[in-house]
Amino acid sequence: MAFPSNKINELASQYANKEPREIINFALEQFNDIGISFSGAEDVVLIDMATKVAKKLGKTVQVFTLDTGRLHPETYQFIDKVRKHYNINIEFMFPDKEKLEAFVSSKGLFSFYDTDHHECCGIRKIEPLRRKLLGLDAWITGQRRDQSPDTRNKVPVLELDSAFSTEDKALGKFNPLANWTSEQVWQYIQMFDVPYNALHDRGYISIGCEPCTRAVKPNQHEREGRWWWEEATAKECGLHQSNLIAKASD
Ligand code: ADX
Ligand code: SF4
Repeated sequence: MAFPSNKINELASQYANKEPREIINFALEQFNDIGISFSGAEDVVLIDMATKVAKKLGKTVQVFTLDTGRLHPETYQFIDKVRKHYNINIEFMFPDKEKLEAFVSSKGLFSFYDTDHHECCGIRKIEPLRRKLLGLDAWITGQRRDQSPDTRNKVPVLELDSAFSTEDKALGKFNPLANWTSEQVWQYIQMFDVPYNALHDRGYISIGCEPCTRAVKPNQHEREGRWWWEEATAKECGLHQSNLIAKASD
């Protein structure tokens, strides 16, 4: 089913206070062309919930990951562990070879420290994501409001993706964990014995690419471990550009 953009407000308020599992249930029930976007971090809880829901519904869960080529070895190991643990396929989206070769050959491997992360993220994450989303009616992300007071404090559980919808197709975006805190996610991981990325035991909270992620000190916000040389308000790599679009129209 195509995403019902005319009913978005009604559905968003209907599901605003529902539990993540109920939101995932609705999403999987409604759409066949829907995929979970898995970063290899604590968003693994989405996969745990979705595989349980899918089993009940007699459906298969689609999971994809954007392999930037710059993830930590621990993240690659973890993604593979998740694949085996849940007995699922994880689709790997790679950057366009020619664009990446031209970019790295002209600017080197660490140009983001001199300028900002947008060009590199554009090639390694956004273009592959755009390609993947063309084949979907909706996607599911692990975004939460508490992940970034600057850019994510209004993330809804369900929205029309204003950044990746096309003229031909309205794209739905589900953020089932939007209302959950980090603490709730970790309680879930412990309660259901969900596998997690080994970096979390070493002070990493928010995990992205290796050169752009670092562990945080006690009481530092998790987002401070990402692109730490940039302004907090700019810390969206473009996957969730709709947050900035929504903020600009406030
Ligand atoms: S980011 O935009 O700053 O990198 P973040 O790491 O907070 O995003 O993750 C939020 C959600 O974005 C994840 O739960 C996941 O749904 C999606 N995401 C982020 N990075 C990736 C990735 N490499 N592959 C697939 N999905 C990703
Ligand atoms: Fe490049 Fe860093 Fe963005 Fe990864 S997070 S795609 S390494 S700029």
